[in-house]
Order: sequence, then C-alpha cells, then structure tokens
Amino acid sequence: MRQSLVVGNWKMNGTRASAELLVKDIIAGLESNNSGIAVCAPYVYLPGIGELVKNTRLALGAQNVADKPSGAFTGEISAAMLSEFDCKYAIVGHSERRTYYGDTNESVAARFCQAQEKGIIPILCVGETLEQREEDQTFSMINEQLDAVINLTGIASFDNAVIAYEPVWAIGTGKTATDEQAQEVHQYIRKYIAAQDQAIADKIQIIYGGSAKPENAKGLFAMLDIDGGLIGGASLDAESFLKIYHSI
Ligand code: 13P
Repeated sequence: MRQSLVVGNWKMNGTRASAELLVKDIIAGLESNNSGIAVCAPYVYLPGIGELVKNTRLALGAQNVADKPSGAFTGEISAAMLSEFDCKYAIVGHSERRTYYGDTNESVAARFCQAQEKGIIPILCVGETLEQREEDQTFSMINEQLDAVINLTGIASFDNAVIAYEPVWAIGTGKTATDEQAQEVHQYIRKYIAAQDQAIADKIQIIYGGSAKPENAKGLFAMLDIDGGLIGGASLDAESFLKIYHSI
C-alpha cells in the first residue's frame, strides 16, 4: 500500500511573519493520519520554517533547485545548500518554471539529479497545456517529460521520487481536472513506469495538482492512482490545506 502525500506549494506568496504563522497553524491542526504532509516555501523562509517543523510530522520542501552542484551561477540555490536546512523535498519542473523561466526537460532532469545526489526527494512536475490536450498530445508530452529524467538518471532513480501530474490548464484557473481525467493520466504514468520497473511503479507516489481544494480533494484522492496532491492557492490557508490533507 502506498503512503499518500499532500504538499503545499506556496509559490511567491506571503511574508516571513505570515509564513511562520501558517506553519504553526498547520502543525497545531494536524490530526493523526498516516499520510505525509509537506510545505514548499520560498527559499528565504526555509531556515525559519525549518526550526518550526523540527520534531513534527510536517516536512519541508523547496520550490526548485539548481541544475548544477556549485559555482558561478548567480541567483541559484544548490541542493547542498537546501540539505543544510532539512529540506526533504524539492519541486522540479513546475510548469511556471518551464513557462516563465525557461526550464527545459533537460534542465529539469539535471535538477532532479542534483536533488537526489544530496538526499532530497524531487517532486517532478509533468503535465500538458490546454492546446496540447486538445490536440491529443497529453500522453506524448508526459512521455517526453518522463523520458528526459529516465534517460539521464535511469528508471531506478524513481525509487526515491514523487511525480506530480499538473495539467497546466488547471493551475490557478479554478478549472480542476475531473476525477476521471486526472485518474486517466495518473494511470498512464504508472503504466509507463511499470513497463520499465513494476516494483517502482507500484511504490511511487503520483500526486495531482491544479485547483485542488477542500471541495474536490476527496473525489480526486479516492481514485486508484492518485496518491495525494500538490496544492497551490488552497495551501496558503491553514484551514483549507488541513481540510484537503484530512480528506485523504
Ligand atoms: P493551484 O492549486 O493554485 O491551482 O496551483 C497548483 C500548483 O501549481 C501546485 O504546484
């Protein structure tokens, strides 16, 4: 049985004070539950939040990680740096990074690799745009996004990774994929991995992201291949984030 996982992606929101308050409220509201829970905070808030989550069930993650280990890469944050702040996870290949900051399948694969080398679990985001969905390119897009990582690091690297299916058309738009639409792609991803390694496919957490909220989380999480969620807007409010988590 796979463990479920709910991750908050705060994106570029909040202040130091609001971030710390949010974390305190999340910790205070956590009911016993066997599923994993994490928040991916802006880099600068990681040290402060790292202190707050010590000895709690709430794990910490970053929203990105550099594709190189160190050196003259102004503005980048390495996996080694993140690992100094108890970062358990790092998101790689979020569609906002791919769209606005030029991340490519290849650079995302390198980020994935860097995270793992420092013991950080990459949360690899994959997903199609509306145009690609309408042109029946959903699965070929997903193949390309997965293959870039598989070709660089091998299928075995998915033994310690999370995949987030985030249809670009559902992110921040209020348009959630239906339970069946999301399940169809999650099942596809699991089968794609299974074709190369059944044990990894059975074990890997594939979580859904894109306008997930308390009202639709239960239905999504009930689907066979949906192991949790990567939550944007609704993770900025402790009550709604906890409701989503507790509906697993
Ligand atoms: P929303 O939940 O705000 O649609 O964002 C989803 C997302 O991008 C999580 O990474």
